[in-house]
Amino acid sequence: MITQVDRYGVMGYPVSHSRSPVIHRLFALQTGHALQYELLQVPPDKLEDSIQQFIRTGGRGLNITVPHKTEVTRFVNQLSERASNAGAVNTLAFEDGEVFGDNTDGVGLLRDLIGNLELDLNGANILILGAGGATRGILAPLLEVQPASITIANRTLTKARALAEQFSGVGPINACRFREVSRRAHYNLIINATSAGLTGEIPPYPEAAVSADSFCYDLSYGLTPTPFSRWALEHGARQSVMGWGMLVEQAAESFHIWRGVHPDTAAVLSQISITA
Ligand code: ATR
Repeated sequence: MITQVDRYGVMGYPVSHSRSPVIHRLFALQTGHALQYELLQVPPDKLEDSIQQFIRTGGRGLNITVPHKTEVTRFVNQLSERASNAGAVNTLAFEDGEVFGDNTDGVGLLRDLIGNLELDLNGANILILGAGGATRGILAPLLEVQPASITIANRTLTKARALAEQFSGVGPINACRFREVSRRAHYNLIINATSAGLTGEIPPYPEAAVSADSFCYDLSYGLTPTPFSRWALEHGARQSVMGWGMLVEQAAESFHIWRGVHPDTAAVLSQISITA
């Protein structure tokens, strides 16, 4: 008799660069769960059909990545509160004909910042560079730890303002242009959430923001330091870290949703990353 193992995968376009298959295979080995995890390259016009086909052929869950994270919310029956706040889904689970959509990015970031890197964000001044989907996904969880302030700085002021307004009822949040960032603000944490690094660009990040007190964190990651990560160290940051920890932590939370166990992330993080 052939026993079919549970199928999972990541859907994106393009997706060949994704580290998710390696991470989930390591989680499966570590926890003794038999599963298969695939890379699924799916263009935007095939998203819905591809999800349905995956479910029909034994799919139990999916990670959803760029550029589908917002669009996929349309195909979900039950959306978690954190996915709704983020306006985006990165994890789908299929159970009894229902499609459940969640977002583990925010919790992944916080587990890395607070659990792995041991930052105390309660009362901290936080600066976020960028005002796109990545920023929207982390605002609610960051506000939950009760920072003194969150400033969103963006090249396009209107987008930063719109996000600040949307979350202004949740906590102290404001918006400005890069060049308006003040030297007096003493940012404890500076997060790069722009997509500029993907093209190797270094935008005019606000030098005034960085001091010897600033911990800098790039949501992007690479095998060599990212442009932002280098920029932060060159401008005197206390420490500069890439988003490998967030990547592994968000994956662990997805694994928990699917399999009911939380893998040991430290072991996997040390296997797949390098330090900046
Ligand atoms: P994501 O989902 O990765 O956040 P996005 O929604 O397209 O992607 O947002 C990209 C973010 O990176 C935006 O804040 C964008 O700035 P604008 O709102 O001004 O477009 C920012 N970004 C991308 N390339 C940039 C560059 N070269 N310089 C400055 N900001 C850049």
